[in-house]
Amino acid sequence: MKKKSQNNLFVHSAVKIDLLGKYLSKYFSIMSNTPYVDIVHYYDLFSGPGIYDNGGEGSPMVVLGKLKEVYSRGKERNADLSTYRCNFNDIDPRLIEKLKNNIEAANIHCAEIGSIAFSSIDYKILCGELRDTLKKMPKNEKAFVFIDPYGYKEVRFSEIKDLLTGKNSEVLLFLPTHFMFRFNENGTPESLHNFIDDIVPKEQWPKSETGLDFVENLKEAFQKNLGSDYFVDSFIISREKNQFFCLFFFTSHIYGFDRMLDTKWQIDEEDGRGWKFNSNSIDLFSGVTNGPNISKYEKILKVFLKEKRSNKDLYQFSLHNGYLPSHTGQILKKCQDDGNLIATLPDGSRARKSSFYISWDNYKNNQSEKAFFRLK
Ligand SMILES: C[S@@+](CC[C@H](N)C(=O)[O-])C[C@H]1O[C@@H](n2cnc3c(N)ncnc32)[C@H](O)[C@@H]1O
Repeated sequence: MKKKSQNNLFVHSAVKIDLLGKYLSKYFSIMSNTPYVDIVHYYDLFSGPGIYDNGGEGSPMVVLGKLKEVYSRGKERNADLSTYRCNFNDIDPRLIEKLKNNIEAANIHCAEIGSIAFSSIDYKILCGELRDTLKKMPKNEKAFVFIDPYGYKEVRFSEIKDLLTGKNSEVLLFLPTHFMFRFNENGTPESLHNFIDDIVPKEQWPKSETGLDFVENLKEAFQKNLGSDYFVDSFIISREKNQFFCLFFFTSHIYGFDRMLDTKWQIDEEDGRGWKFNSNSIDLFSGVTNGPNISKYEKILKVFLKEKRSNKDLYQFSLHNGYLPSHTGQILKKCQDDGNLIATLPDGSRARKSSFYISWDNYKNNQSEKAFFRLK
């Protein structure tokens, strides 16, 4: 018999889908607004039925809903929109049948937006096919792949890496890191060995003291293995006290990294790193927030600013430390108001007050530096 969690959508799973939906809303809209992309592929390799017994919506329904919104907004503007090709796969053909019915009943998609394909293939086989498709994909096409297995035994890191090699795709991977950490502590089963050996040589895998350490170690190992052409990010979902599950995000595009970070801060307004189960409230958006915790970041940014840094250096520095360019701007403003910041234009003259140019718009297309900053 299936576990209850497999027939019902629970809060921790809803958070996972919330991050996916919020990020894809940005992604679809960016892809619609760029003249360089004509076709966008979305692959959900472990799709499930779309709607659970308790009425909760799974990834396919949420993603199609976001796509419809983006499409309708674009149409209102008469924009020249990209075509979207969605692909849903689940090894269980009954779930795919349910999904087809659910999509039809919800009237959530139309041919104008693009196509939907369904399959019931084992992830391993599909992954091999997808790797070849993505490698051959022309420059005007982009892909996003969501991988949401029940466990970690189904997936290997080398498969994720293969999906990224064409540099035209992004991957969001859910891993039950809590169970992996527990095994890591209590004697590692073969499957976890295999998973980790695929990323880093056994002797280089560090010991993790806590579940959070384990997530951090995995993220670092992923990053090291992929190298500096890729960005790796994590979003932690705590189910109960000290039970940490994690979504890992992989992209080769710094703006993808920027938008994922923005999504994380949208959900976790205090730390931008994850979501905690609050037993008093299962409302994800209780509205109670103390604002962003940036004091730790302020310290490291001030050390970084002991040397002269450009607006572009600061954009990268923000993202790599998990903070938004707006947080950096806030700290620079404070330093400026306190009379501690030297801000200059490339010709050496003084920059205008409160103009920091730390955003993607000032970074993209290989623009030259607009200003330089240093603490007195
Ligand atoms: C965690 S659920 C996916 C939930 C879904 N993303 C959602 O939001 O509702 C995992 C799904 O993967 C399917 N599955 C299990 N093993 C698979 C495999 N080897 N290949 C493809 N799908 C598989 C299961 O039938 C199950 O529906």
